[in-house]
Amino acid sequence: MPPDQMPARPAYRTPAIASTAAAVPVPPIPACRAWATRYAGEHGAPLDLTQAVPGWPPHPDMLAALARAAGDPAAATYGLLEGETALREALAEDMRLLYGGDAGAEDLRVTAGANIGFNLAMAVLAAPGDEVLLPTPWFFNHEMALALRGVRAVPLPCRAADGYLPDPARAATLIGPRTRAIALVTPNNPTGAVMPPELIGRFADLCRERGLWLVLDETYRDFLPDGQDTPHALFRRPDWRDFVVQLYSFSKAYCIPGHRVGAVAGGPVFRGEFIKAVDNIQICPPRPPQFALAWAVPALREWRAGNRARIATRAAAFQSAFATAPEWRIDAIGAYFAWVRVPDAAPDSTVAAERLAAERGVVSLPGGVFGPGGERHIRLAFANTDEATIAAVPGRLAGLFARASSTRSERFAAPVPAPGRPFDRSP
Ligand SMILES: Cc1ncc(COP(=O)(O)O)c(C=O)c1O
Repeated sequence: MPPDQMPARPAYRTPAIASTAAAVPVPPIPACRAWATRYAGEHGAPLDLTQAVPGWPPHPDMLAALARAAGDPAAATYGLLEGETALREALAEDMRLLYGGDAGAEDLRVTAGANIGFNLAMAVLAAPGDEVLLPTPWFFNHEMALALRGVRAVPLPCRAADGYLPDPARAATLIGPRTRAIALVTPNNPTGAVMPPELIGRFADLCRERGLWLVLDETYRDFLPDGQDTPHALFRRPDWRDFVVQLYSFSKAYCIPGHRVGAVAGGPVFRGEFIKAVDNIQICPPRPPQFALAWAVPALREWRAGNRARIATRAAAFQSAFATAPEWRIDAIGAYFAWVRVPDAAPDSTVAAERLAAERGVVSLPGGVFGPGGERHIRLAFANTDEATIAAVPGRLAGLFARASSTRSERFAAPVPAPGRPFDRSP
């Protein structure tokens, strides 16, 4: 057909992305890892300290149990929305041993990881336009999850001088008519700070008085420091089911983040709504790892305790290694993470992290990823390395910011991954 007789092409218009999603920054870990693709290897192999993953494989019997469960045709079918009863019973017993109190299988719901647990919980606790208080530095996925739902994360600033512990009196001043919940992470990501039981109790009292949900992410509860064996006393309160929602992850304690299993504890009113989100979003959590975990929770108690000691050794190794690099000050350290202040000569932590990755092959996350106030810090996740690697880190940092540093635009003509989406994002 001659071109002049061809029918006119319709004008195409690109459909819009939801403004809530468009405003959310890109996932930081892959973006920061991409910086290391520019590293030429002159200081040794790249060291990836971005992600909180255990540095060793699951127990061999766990691997065997997973293989067996994956080969079971029953595991290939849909399971109960609330999760496997045997796993919920095993976890409830574990919780009673750890916390005291009376949490039972009926209080627990199994989720495809703690992150989806948070998302499912927020689907029923906060509506678009509502607010949730998050202590800063915050776990970036919590803020991202809220932003995707159109819920505002209200920063509750924590200070190095207070050991990065949130202050309930300060939280009280931030509660407004749209506040629905306070979400705490203990042991904390990114600072590693562990909230003492009495402080958690004060937040519980505040939530009770002000009619708020207390959402407690205890993904790292199996890695409490020596000398603290009970995370808190909430489950001994007769009213916990009326306002507490607790999140747990099997990813770290059992070294199975790829199998995606977590759990949520809450009372009957919460659970009655929660199941609606479950039915629509996950239907049931993955079944093979649940079968394996029902066995592992009681059977691997000692192995888990050993891992706790192993992580504590790594934290101690990190501290003694950093004693040789005083210009990089550890402001907080705990299970899995060190929250390190960049040298005064460094421009800001995004530039510092980028240069560390590209010039020294040490990949970290800049503090701005963790909300307002993080611009002078980087997070180093040391759990997935060994002592020899940890010992090598200060040598890599040495001299990087010895003199007044150049800015990113001078040093890096190439665009950083995810251009146009700054990490340092204020709500
Ligand atoms: C505080 C916190 N919550 C949740 C998660 C995600 O856990 P899961 O693998 O169970 O989704 C992480 C992982 O890094 C985390 O640090």
